[in-house]
Amino acid sequence: MAAPETLLRAQGVAKTFTLGKVEVPALRGVDVSVRAGEVCLLMGPSGSGKTTLLSILGCILSPSAGSVVVMGRETAGLPERELTRVRQAHIGFVFQSYNLFPTLYAVENVQVALDLRGVAGGEAKSRAHAALVAVGLADKAHVLPRDLSGGQKQRVAIARALVAEPAIILADEPTAALDSETGRGVIASLRELAVGRGSSVVIVTHDPRIAAFADRVIRIEDGRIASDGELTP
Ligand SMILES: Nc1ncnc2c1ncn2[C@@H]1O[C@H](COP(=O)(O)OP(=O)(O)OP(=O)(O)O)[C@@H](O)[C@H]1O
Ligand SMILES: [Mg+2]
Repeated sequence: MAAPETLLRAQGVAKTFTLGKVEVPALRGVDVSVRAGEVCLLMGPSGSGKTTLLSILGCILSPSAGSVVVMGRETAGLPERELTRVRQAHIGFVFQSYNLFPTLYAVENVQVALDLRGVAGGEAKSRAHAALVAVGLADKAHVLPRDLSGGQKQRVAIARALVAEPAIILADEPTAALDSETGRGVIASLRELAVGRGSSVVIVTHDPRIAAFADRVIRIEDGRIASDGELTP
């Protein structure tokens, strides 16, 4: 069998933030690649560079140096508009704080992802409904975020990240605001939906119990990869 395709590859990625006159090196030469169908955890101490790396992999942030290849295309140095295009074509992002629109119903929050990509209204609506069904929220379609629990809000956010069927799903501490059982349920459904389609997932987490849902753990310390290994079941 051929080795699974590499969907995402970072090489020599560095990022330095400038705060006034102070330079903050957040990443100091990171090499990492993610293959199709893989579920990776990104772990490391606070301030080690996890969010920065995920944002660069997700074309939300540009690296100061190095190469980031998404679905075979070099993205380092692309103008903002092109980066947005790559992101919309290939990447779904799940944030710790859900980032739902407070005045939109659950189904509308999911549909936004398709509207942005130019999917026609009727089709967008039915796909958004189907995505909510897939995360177990069929009965919450016309509920506002304020009337959903934390776990339900995060499921809406996952439906939104997955509805456009991206090849790559990136999640930054998606369970940090949830109790551990709810968190494990959310990760289990994220894994099932993504892997069922051959998508790759990178999840930033502090929760070692989530390791049970991963194929691989990448550890980052002080802006460098400290270890990167497949887990044996
Ligand atoms: N926009 C920014 N401007 C300046 N410095 C930043 C910025 N974003 C991150 N940093 C710095 O870069 C380093 C890495 O931050 P990052 O947010 O990637 O860490 P993290 O591993 O996600 O931490 P946490 O677990 O607390 O979320 C830190 O020293 C942080 O202060
Ligand atoms: Mg972070």
